[in-house]
Amino acid sequence: MKGLVLAGGSGTRLRPLTHTGAKQLVPVANRPVLFYVMDNLVDAGIEEIGVIIAPETGGEIRDALGDGSAFGARFTFIEQDRPSGLAHAVATARDYLGDSDFVMYLGDNLIGTKIKDSVDTFRNDPSLSAWVMLKEVPNPSQFGVAKIDDDGKVVGLVEKPADPPSNLALVGIYMFRPSVFEAISQIEPSARGELEITDAIQKVIDLGGTCRFAHVTSWWLDTGKKDDMLLANDTVLDDWLEGCIEGDVDEESQIVGRVRIEAGASVTRSTVRGPAIIGAGAQIVDSRIGPFTTIGKEVVVDHSRIDHSVVMEASSISGIPRLEDSLIGKRVKVGPSAARHGGLSLMVGDDCIIESPQ
Ligand code: G1P
Repeated sequence: MKGLVLAGGSGTRLRPLTHTGAKQLVPVANRPVLFYVMDNLVDAGIEEIGVIIAPETGGEIRDALGDGSAFGARFTFIEQDRPSGLAHAVATARDYLGDSDFVMYLGDNLIGTKIKDSVDTFRNDPSLSAWVMLKEVPNPSQFGVAKIDDDGKVVGLVEKPADPPSNLALVGIYMFRPSVFEAISQIEPSARGELEITDAIQKVIDLGGTCRFAHVTSWWLDTGKKDDMLLANDTVLDDWLEGCIEGDVDEESQIVGRVRIEAGASVTRSTVRGPAIIGAGAQIVDSRIGPFTTIGKEVVVDHSRIDHSVVMEASSISGIPRLEDSLIGKRVKVGPSAARHGGLSLMVGDDCIIESPQ
């Protein structure tokens, strides 16, 4: 079986971070979301992986992933010339996929479970034409939604319905046989002008195929917006972080709970409360960090308190009494005002959000 990871798209929901980079590379607990996707596929025994990239962000996706050897896999990059939908991406990869069965995985989806059991079930049951993963959500209208029968089959699927037939959302992980290409050739673009994978699966069923599903009971984060990203950070730190101190912590500092301090980081006269990560080469001075906080590599924090936040690489936070629930991009400087009257002085890019203390 092969893998097909979708790492194109424009990431409009995650602006401003995605003005300068691909949404799949936004880090959660200091690792790009896309890396967790690859781990999950490789864990399921899938080592031949095609990666769909967009012309705009394809270069940085290639650079971040490399040839796959770091993951125990072989990556092949396939450019999709325009964002015409998930089913269009599958059709673009037709030559690469050949007559192989495959797992399609959206590169910005993070789930708390392994997919191995689903992959094994699908692989070993030739009566199945497709497989989806479903999760109960409070807001099904924002997703693809499936209707199932008592026999555990998917009987209908609809993309972002105003009137959802169930509360079961399609998680961005799907399995197919080559028969899906015939289904894709028979569907039309949706109202948003895209060839929807949801419609393609419906067509597979209409053509007589059987689609079953796994019920995802763990957390699932479709890392779309700031609050999703912070929740993803909290969840990954909570579930997967192993404490380990490789950097320097001076005697006047305190480390409490599960904390990872990466090589070359230094913590001076500060408290770090886990779960938290201090990235390689970061400097924490006279500050309090955590819980639920990720500090990226080469970040400098002094005389500040930060909790429930993500600060990405090479940023600096200085003299801020409390920074909370914040997502800070790369090379950002947050510090005392040099303005004439000590007022808030800003230089921020497009789509940023600033909430001042009340
Ligand atoms: C896509 C799919 C949708 C699925 C979702 C999961 O939506 O079209 O069916 O539920 O991913 O993340 P999009 O992110 O394109 O809005």
